[in-house]
Amino acid sequence: MTTFADRTAATSSPSPAAPAATADFIALDEQWSTHNYHPLPVVIAGGEGATVTDVEGTTYLDFLSGYSALNFGHRHPDLIAAATEQLERVTLTSRAFHHDRFGLFCRELAELTGTEMVLPMNSGAEAVESAIKVARKWAHRVKGVPDGQARIVVASDNFHGRTTTIVSFSTDEDARADFGPFTPGFDVVPYGDADALAAAITDHTAAVLVEPVQGEAGVVVPPAGYLPEVRRLCDEAGALLIADEIQSGLCRTGTVLALEHEGVRADLYTLGKALGGGIVPVSAVVGRRDVLGVLQPGEHGSTFGGNPLACAVGRAVVRLLSTGEFARRATTLGEHLHTRLAGLVGHGVSAVRGRGLWAGVDIAPGGPTGRQASEELRARGVLCKETHGSTLRIAPPLVITEAELDRGIDAIEAVVGA
Ligand SMILES: Cc1ncc(COP(=O)(O)O)c(C=O)c1O
Repeated sequence: MTTFADRTAATSSPSPAAPAATADFIALDEQWSTHNYHPLPVVIAGGEGATVTDVEGTTYLDFLSGYSALNFGHRHPDLIAAATEQLERVTLTSRAFHHDRFGLFCRELAELTGTEMVLPMNSGAEAVESAIKVARKWAHRVKGVPDGQARIVVASDNFHGRTTTIVSFSTDEDARADFGPFTPGFDVVPYGDADALAAAITDHTAAVLVEPVQGEAGVVVPPAGYLPEVRRLCDEAGALLIADEIQSGLCRTGTVLALEHEGVRADLYTLGKALGGGIVPVSAVVGRRDVLGVLQPGEHGSTFGGNPLACAVGRAVVRLLSTGEFARRATTLGEHLHTRLAGLVGHGVSAVRGRGLWAGVDIAPGGPTGRQASEELRARGVLCKETHGSTLRIAPPLVITEAELDRGIDAIEAVVGA
């Protein structure tokens, strides 16, 4: 019988000398990692502020920010200092014990978001999973929905992560095909359609789960008035409103929470990405005490959730967000971005959407594909990524300067402008 060690010996040559060129690194990735991504052909070896540098020494503007995980740019000094200090103390305890950063992080995050309780997790998908579990338990124990019959209404074109339960209610066939059987209990309605939502809500509805701005769908902002109506319908039906602010939250749109633009409060929010400062995965569900309070010891958890390093970095993130500087930057730079992008509509661009320093740019028919445009932008020193074939997603770090922003927009204009 061949053992794993035999197979490894047969397939791996002795470790080669560190490859120097981009192609060598990409070949390594291709051979040794699963092919569940299609990255642009750039191999990043360093990052600072709004720029990254590749293994060949070429510097690029980062116009994606790790899908908003790098709102503070690469290696923000305050975040690096907080992480470094914590690395010298203690990094992991598990939740079997208390540690001296945990409660402070939870309190400060709750204060920043105007909420009452925090459930720390790691990835965004874990936060969404956690919110689903909490909403179901709340419905069964508090709302009085018969056990196992709680339902959650979600929107079409949603993106909430990649777990089996989450892809169960995705409307993207690539995300679902071959991954069933799926988790039941979800009702999908068109995003932005309050009448469809009203028709879908029943006595068994535990929650409505919605992105205030749909990032992966192409930075789609719902019609004005939709989110307040979602709130009203939830109140009317005694259902929870869960806002997935993993991408839209933490100042990307110019406010700590994107729902603030519509004057709406959710019962639960999922946060992630920027909460880890681009250093460690940190996510959380934050919200009402009477809802999150349904969880009892042993019912839910995570070995790494709320670890000391995550909490130290998370506290530094909250401190940065509390200054108001990043919200201001997202607002003013966002206005500049959208004014300039609006000028491209009709000139190689068919539509632009977004809020704050965040935009989806639809390339007009006849222009390059989104992938071609992203590759062309890379060649011009700007990194961003396409979605849905012909849309470019723009989300520069909030530390970017106006001059850098203009340089990136000039490149976009040169690549897609007509
Ligand atoms: C709105 C939203 N929710 C959840 C997720 C999943 O986060 P993660 O990739 O950290 O699991 C994402 C990731 O893009 C997202 O944009």
